This record gives sequence, structure tokens and C-alpha cells, in this order.
Amino acid sequence: LPQHTCTWLQGIMTLYKYQGFWNVQNFSQKTILAQSYKAQPSDILVCSCPKTGTTWLKALTFAIVTRKKFDELASPLLTTLPHDCVPFLENHLEKIQKNHSDFPIIATHLPYSSLPESVITSGCKIVYIYRNIKDVLVSYYHFVRELVNLPLEDASFEAAFDEYCQGISSSGPYWDHILEFWKASQEMPERFLFLKYEDLKKEPTSNVKRLAEFLGYPFSTEEEKAGVVENIIQLCSFGNLSTLEVNKSGKYQADEHFALEHRLFFRKAKDGDWENYFTNEMKEKIDKLIDEKLHGTGLVLK
Ligand code: A3P
Repeated sequence: LPQHTCTWLQGIMTLYKYQGFWNVQNFSQKTILAQSYKAQPSDILVCSCPKTGTTWLKALTFAIVTRKKFDELASPLLTTLPHDCVPFLENHLEKIQKNHSDFPIIATHLPYSSLPESVITSGCKIVYIYRNIKDVLVSYYHFVRELVNLPLEDASFEAAFDEYCQGISSSGPYWDHILEFWKASQEMPERFLFLKYEDLKKEPTSNVKRLAEFLGYPFSTEEEKAGVVENIIQLCSFGNLSTLEVNKSGKYQADEHFALEHRLFFRKAKDGDWENYFTNEMKEKIDKLIDEKLHGTGLVLK
């Protein structure tokens, strides 16, 4: 596979290009294994590029779908990592296949073109979250840096920026990841819901209701009156999830060889943090790049 050793990470990490997208070495193997997944029509798939709000969307989707079983005071989200409530297909295939009914919702960072055939043919629902590329980049920079234990002063943001703009990032190029899902959604609009991180933040109530409706779990008038929507938003909020003991001190076991501190999935959750990192020149360069990539698609990533 074509490979690239990340200079901004002092060479600690190497990414490999597989089926048009960059990722860590064992991801190609995981992608191949994931092809045996037998998706059911009732499955819900949460899809995203890393750092776009995956953890948040997992929690919201899980809370919506399981709300009749557990109210917000007894939700498994209070004591279980969102990544264990909604496992990643590529990381936990065996567990999902063995106990499929326990996992009505699964997540994936796989690009659309690498999804198992059964996902396409089953008719299952797909929710895709995306976010302003500049904030994704800053989030990615910190996440990966901390993952490999590289101190801030040793990780050049400028070099990270350059690699990201070349499309070299885990699950990148970011724009190709989004565009593949976007194009598929144009052909099968009834199967896809696109959510933008910034919209979810700005207007959580209407977007959570939209999500619930799309998933086939709409809120009843009684539920709305009883404040169920707001309770779910509060349960899944950054302020709540990031301060729960399980999320602060828990470890996410990504596979049998690799575990990471779950707290890394919670940083600032702030819109526009990129302004603290980008020079004017960087801003212009990435805006131009994204304009070129998304021209005519109707998507906005700025
Ligand atoms: P920042 O690094 O900008 O803070 P992912 O879950 O796809 O890895 O994305 C992680 C990003 O989502 C991080 O962004 C993280 O802080 C933010 N995040 C995590 N939980 C969130 C929540 N409940 N609400 C809003 N943002 C959240």
C-alpha cells in the first residue's frame, strides 16, 4: 500500500492508503473483515470522519432509540462509554455479529465505497455527521498528538495543516469521505440523514427531533410536553458526558491490541477554535481548497 510517515508527528505514525483513503496499517485488514457484516434493514449506521462529532451523535442516537427502555436517569450512557453503547463496525465486528440484537446502532469511519455490500442492499438507515473542516483539523491535531504522547511543542501545527490539506489524515481526504456519502444520499435520499455539527449545536431541539423522526422513533406530543427531547439533549451534552466518571477515567478498547484514554474524545467542543491556530494564509488556502472540492455540491464546510 502507498504509505506516508507523518512528519508533524516526528515520524511516530505512518498512514497507508487503501481504496483511496488513508488510515493506520491494520485498517485495510479491518475493512476486509468488515465485508462479512450482515446488515439488517432495521440497523442504524452512524457514519463520519474522525473528529466531526461521532461520539456526540452516537450518544444522541442511542438515547433516542433506547428511551422507552431506559429513561435519562437510568441510561447506560451514564456508566458505559458511548463507543461501547454504539460500537465501531471495523473494530468490533465479532461482538456485533454475535449479539446483533444488542446493537441496533453501529458506527463506522469506513468511506462509503468501502462499506460492506449488505449495508447498501439492506436498506438500513444511515446518519452522517460532518463539521467545519478547520475545527476538525484542530481537533484531529490534538487528538492524534495526545494519542502518540507527543508534547505540544514538538508537534508543528503548520506541518499538520499541510498534511491534512494534502488529504493525508486518518480516514482522509476529509472532503472525499463526505462527498462519497453525499453523492449516495442524492441517489437514495430516504436512506440518509446529513447532520452538521454546528447546526446540532445551534439548534439542538429541532435537529434532535429531525434525527428521531428519521430513525423511525419520533417524539410523541406527550413526550415533548414532558421535556423528553430536552432531557436527551442534556444527557448527551458535552458538559454532562465529559464529566461522567466513566468517560473521564475509562479506556476505550479499540481492538485487542489497542486501548486509549476515553477522555481524548472530549476536548473543547467549541465552534471556531480554529481561529486560535490558523494564520490568514492558512485560512485562505483551506477555504480555496474546500471551495474547489465542494463546488456545485450544495455542501458548505467553512
Ligand atoms: P474538539 O476537539 O473540537 O473539542 P469525534 O467524536 O468524532 O472523535 O469528535 C470529537 C470532537 O467532538 C471533539 O471536538 C470533542 O470535544 C467534541 N465532542 C465530544 N462530545 C461532544 C458532545 N457531547 N457535544 C459536542 N461536542 C462533543
